Amino acid sequence: MLIFNNQNELVAHLASVSNTATTIGFVPTMGALHQGHLSLLSEAVANNSIVLISIFVNPTQFNNPEDLAKYPRTLEADIEKIKTVSDKIIVYAPSVEDIYKGNTVSQSFDFDGLEFQMEGQFRPGHFDGVGTIVKRLFEIVKPTNAYFGEKDFQQLQIVKKMVEKAKMPVNVIGCPIYRETNGLAMSSRNERLSDSEKKEAAIIYKTLSQAKKLFAKQSTNEITQWVKKTFNQNPNFTLEYFQIADEATLMPCVRKNKSKKYRAFIAVFVNNVRLIDTISLN
Ligand code: PAF
Repeated sequence: MLIFNNQNELVAHLASVSNTATTIGFVPTMGALHQGHLSLLSEAVANNSIVLISIFVNPTQFNNPEDLAKYPRTLEADIEKIKTVSDKIIVYAPSVEDIYKGNTVSQSFDFDGLEFQMEGQFRPGHFDGVGTIVKRLFEIVKPTNAYFGEKDFQQLQIVKKMVEKAKMPVNVIGCPIYRETNGLAMSSRNERLSDSEKKEAAIIYKTLSQAKKLFAKQSTNEITQWVKKTFNQNPNFTLEYFQIADEATLMPCVRKNKSKKYRAFIAVFVNNVRLIDTISLN
């Protein structure tokens, strides 16, 4: 298995093995890989001649230094997991220096307002950090197809917007959320939960599923009040936000419009661990 830490060496290797018929499938990650990441890799392997995964905990997208410090870093275990999909997958695991060249700051982006909703309100600067790293990785890897999980649906829409605005020749592909058997969305952050917290965190998906049922007959305000009440009654969880939004613009849904697609988005703290999830409503 080829593992690169240096972007010049990676670029030289990709040039040496590519021709006009080559398609590069790319899965950008921050490591601590789980089944959800592996499903993105399988999708990439099935549809591309070369597959590359990046493993890089990007400092500029963390607004909370404690969250950055505690983010799980498990490179050796990650490599073993990647091998279970294919040992032909190329790994790019750069240092902060290799990516940022001594200037670890974000570029400033205009994502047509997508960046001001939900995660954007609670994690200032987060999407500038995501835009900066994804753009840089796309410039290095030059993927044909790039795969992202729908759990971070707002991130997916923002990456699509970034690619459209920067006119990058990359297909950005959203893939379904992978869940534990109790419905908890798979996330690298789940590693920081105790077994009992993992069990109890089933409430997040249960609440989203119920919100989906209620969406057919209740107003968004009624559903939001019900979700708030549900979490208020549960002292182990702190609801940061629950929002029903238009899938395309991510603007809150005030009055339902039959021609639009809506999603519910949620962010919840379990102890000090912040979890997000989303569900399509119609
Ligand atoms: O979703 C993630 O893991 C990260 O935000 C990403 C896309 C790899 C950028 O650092």
